[in-house]
Amino acid sequence: MNLTSYTRKTDPRTRYSGQAARDYDAIRKSKPFWTRQPNQVKALLVGQSVLDIPVGSGRFIDCYQGMDFKGIDISPDMLELARERGWQDLDIGDITNIPVPDKSFDSVVCVHLMMHLTPDDSPAAAEEMKRVARKAIIVDCHLSSKTLVPKSGVIRYSRKLFNDIFSGWEVTKSLGSISHPMMRLEPCNPVA
Ligand SMILES: C[S@@+](CC[C@H](N)C(=O)[O-])C[C@H]1O[C@@H](n2cnc3c(N)ncnc32)[C@H](O)[C@@H]1O
Repeated sequence: MNLTSYTRKTDPRTRYSGQAARDYDAIRKSKPFWTRQPNQVKALLVGQSVLDIPVGSGRFIDCYQGMDFKGIDISPDMLELARERGWQDLDIGDITNIPVPDKSFDSVVCVHLMMHLTPDDSPAAAEEMKRVARKAIIVDCHLSSKTLVPKSGVIRYSRKLFNDIFSGWEVTKSLGSISHPMMRLEPCNPVA
């Protein structure tokens, strides 16, 4: 498939609003990944502070107990769900222009967004995560031998593309399946 001709049916920046937001948890809660991912996120976290972007409905809140945590999402309706779950520090923001200073969180968590970002959008998101994370980025991604968009519309990244957009950072721990792992990335040359 020629990715340059690929246009998304729905833009992820506007997709999660209204009923789609209200149904978000109910539609997914019986899926195996739903119960698996919080444990994976918890096992990969580093440090005392975490930025969850996109925070979505805030389903990882229990992973962050005892830490300073902040959630950012582009959808006000998803942020409302997170607020109802007990999140307090929430902001509207775009992952390609994260409204926080450099190196302001030990860990940055980004789950279930890479698959919706085209290879044109994802480098900016990765650059921003690298800018704001002090120690670790925790991200899930569908990996494949080459970058492609199957019928499902879920974008798969070649390992080369993934490594390129996260250059300067390396995968230090990976949980789950080889084709859709949850990964912890750390800087190749951490500043002391
Ligand atoms: C599939 S949900 C994932 C939410 C959460 N991380 C989870 O795993 O349940 C995708 C989320 O990304 C948000 N989103 C889409 N594009 C975004 C962007 N450019 N910047 C920040 N959030 C974005 C949507 O509003 C939605 O809440």
